[in-house]
Amino acid sequence: MTPPLEYRPATGCIALLDQTQLPAREVWLDLCTPEEVAEAICHLRVRGAPAIGIAAAYGVVLASDAEQPDEAVEGAIGLLESTRPTAVNLSWALARMRSVAEKHKASGCELLRAALLEEARAIEAEDRAAGLRLGRYGLELLKPGSTVLTHCHTGGAATSGYGTALAPLILGAQRGLKFSAFVDETRPLLQGSRITAWELARAGVKATLITDSMAAHVMRTRRIDAVMVGADRIAANGDVANKIGTYALAVLARTHGVAFYVSAPVSTVDFATPTGADIIIEERAPEEVTHGFGRQTAPDGIDVYNPAFDITPADYVTAIITEKGIVRPSYLTGLRALRESG
Ligand code: MRU
Repeated sequence: MTPPLEYRPATGCIALLDQTQLPAREVWLDLCTPEEVAEAICHLRVRGAPAIGIAAAYGVVLASDAEQPDEAVEGAIGLLESTRPTAVNLSWALARMRSVAEKHKASGCELLRAALLEEARAIEAEDRAAGLRLGRYGLELLKPGSTVLTHCHTGGAATSGYGTALAPLILGAQRGLKFSAFVDETRPLLQGSRITAWELARAGVKATLITDSMAAHVMRTRRIDAVMVGADRIAANGDVANKIGTYALAVLARTHGVAFYVSAPVSTVDFATPTGADIIIEERAPEEVTHGFGRQTAPDGIDVYNPAFDITPADYVTAIITEKGIVRPSYLTGLRALRESG
């Protein structure tokens, strides 16, 4: 488990693991203003759907130190909301913070700050508990000795605890279940090679790194028992937005008869978004593709399309693992029942 951040009451700042520096260096930054938190989210110093929600929630707490806290808090929520559009955990966490701020508008600075801090801590603690449950449900789907193929990074640093899709692998290692993983490097920002491979090694899970384009060959020539990925937003009908490349894996999994599981807390399900077509896909800077990690790898002036996420239609998803249970098709009714279960 690698929690990506910690709120420090003594300094009133957030200590944040700069994930852009992994795996070569473990650099912790002190973030003391909402603007610094927004910068960290935009530049993926903190990333992964649940983690950016948690970081943003604490970012709102930092705003409550201002002379006009009500205005500063609302300004911070607006700024943080604008950082990344796809992961719904961000707007979900900020909506919770906004409703606490509104409730304590007239309560004075101290009470407002205490209430916001309590809410941010609750969001973080709920996510930690959800990760453990996601891991336990995920274990029900894997036999000892299973090999899982995974994409992007969905472990501790992307959440506040065990992670989402990596949670069963990490729990499995603790229980001696001898799981192993093929890890997609995840172009263009290499969350798989830089963070997943690093985290699985620390957790004692046998991991083999592959480039994204090797997945088809690996599924045809090696035994892959399941593909497990996380999600940035799940539409009400079960369509899944996740890191670019996820949809390709789902198509490959179907072709090769491999189960395709999505693991995410219920906070990632957006009941207000009917289908994947309604999800905004973040497009990022061309330099992430043409100048990856500081070296020019494409000619000057080339047109670049750099969507950070894609949509996997619900039809390709074998099951969605949540902290409230495993949901199978039809997702429209299954996810709704989950919400109504409280
Ligand atoms: O752009 P990123 O690194 O924030 O993308 C993260 C992902 O796509 C993860 O798979 C997703 O957030 C699930 S994290 C638990």
